[in-house]
Parts: sequence; structure tokens; C-alpha cells
Amino acid sequence: MATWSAPGKVFLFGEHAVLYEKPGIALAIRPRVYVTVRKTSHPHHAKSPYIDQCFREFGVKGSVYINSQLPSSSGLGSSAAVTVATLAAINDEFDMGRSKEQIAELAWKIEKKVQKGRASATDTTVSTYGGMFLIKEGTRKRLAPQNYHLVIGNSQISHSTSRMVEKVAEMKSKHPAIINPVLDSIEAIVMDAMKHLDEPAYLGKLMDMNHCLLEMLGVGHPQLSRLVLAARSTGAFGAKITGAGGGGCMVALAPKNIRARIAGAIEVFDGRAIITCIDTEGLRKE
Ligand code: PMV
Repeated sequence: MATWSAPGKVFLFGEHAVLYEKPGIALAIRPRVYVTVRKTSHPHHAKSPYIDQCFREFGVKGSVYINSQLPSSSGLGSSAAVTVATLAAINDEFDMGRSKEQIAELAWKIEKKVQKGRASATDTTVSTYGGMFLIKEGTRKRLAPQNYHLVIGNSQISHSTSRMVEKVAEMKSKHPAIINPVLDSIEAIVMDAMKHLDEPAYLGKLMDMNHCLLEMLGVGHPQLSRLVLAARSTGAFGAKITGAGGGGCMVALAPKNIRARIAGAIEVFDGRAIITCIDTEGLRKE
């Protein structure tokens, strides 16, 4: 029996734009997903195309038990965390001898297959290695982890990442003269953020701008706007949608001493709050 865990992720900047050759900044967060794999003659596991695909890639059969502290389909990268941890647990249980690098690559390949080609390497990279990354197409640059205090607000509105990705593609083909500059502006935000990673107050302003641009891409939702405004008006440095949008989660960057107050405000507006920080550990054997 082998148990491995992997963290969730948030996009600080650049979701959606990363699918158009733009850079993005994402980081690993607690909570994480725990996956146990066991060789058995009667394999069974939860119905999941990601898990099916993990076994198919390795050409083995086994049982899987998942303990996830990450809400699923909320934009916190739970499918990538499950995929990465399942691959690592199979690799361990069946002595397949794959490196972390190979697991990250395989996990991205599985995400692309299950999500029909439209998945950046962000979630699988961040979940495998932990910490913070600048992601651009297939490349990654590890960034020095910062002591950010984050408050996530889950709108509890279900959304579909692929539907949101399609929506942005439609917007872009209908209004290229408007949407292309929006994507360029998101890129400019990422490049500016790279020079100010140790200045949360500055980054907060950039997050507010990135949020507006995501709304222009058509992935806003009234409930996400409420949570973002609740966080800002309670003293967050900045707040934005994180992930695909249209529901799912927002993230606020906050001064340490008011995290709880921001979480309270998010809950008042019917969100589920998670107070968290960067998880510098990626895949971990339990
Ligand atoms: O729902 P999430 O967190 O997996 O967000 C998807 C982010 C996108 O940029 C829209 C897609 C991707 O694969 O990066």
C-alpha cells in the first residue's frame, strides 16, 4: 500500500491568458489531497476519468482511496492534485521507477487528454513541485516562495472549466480588437508582478486589475464579485477570481492580522472561506 499527497493551487495572476501563450503566476496551497493505492486482485476506485487514465498510462490495476480536503470543481486544482498523487502512489506501489519530472509530465498529458487538449501545465506543475511558479506554455520558472497571507472564498457556485475556456475563446473570436489587448494587459500585469513579488500591497493592486480584466473576458459571476468586494472592503490588499471563474473561487491577499476578518466577511456573503498560505512542499509520501 502506498499513500501520497499533493497540494492544491491558486492562480495569483494570468488564468485564461496562459492558454494564449501568455505567462501566469500560480502557487501551491494547503489543503491537499491524499491518495492511497493498493495492488489487489479486485481493483476498485471512485469513478474518475483522471484515475482511470493514471492506471492506463502505467498499464497496471489497483484499488484507490482518496481523502481530499480540497473542494472539487472549484478552481483549486483538485483534479491535478488527484492525478499527480495517484501517479506517484502507483509509481511507488508498483515500483515503476518514474521521477518527479516524469510524473509532472504524465499528469499534464492526462489533464490535456481528459480536458480535450485545453489545459495549461499550471495545476500539475504547481501540485507536483509545491511553491510558486511563473508558467509560460510548457516552461516553468520556480519563484522564491513568499510569506503571503491568503484568504480563499469559495462561491459554492458550480462551474465548468471547459465551458469557461470556450467562453473566452468565443469572446476572443467575436471581439479580437477588444479581447487581444485584454490578454496583453494580463501579460503586462504578470511582468510587473514579477518585479514586486515581495510587496503584497503592490501585488494587491495588480490583483484588482487582473480581476477586472477577467470580468472583461466574460468569466465573472455576481457571487464572485460580492466576495471580492467583501474582501477588499474588509482591508485585503487586493482580491480576484482565481481559476476558471463563472463560479468557483476568489482569492484575496491580506495583511496577516485581518485574515480572520476577511474570512468572516466572505462567510457573511455566503462564501466558504479558507485561510491559507503557500505550501512549499509538492508531492509527498505519507
Ligand atoms: O479551474 P482551474 O483552476 O483549473 O482553472 C483553469 C485555469 C485556466 O487558465 C482557465 C485553464 C488552465 O488550464 O490553465
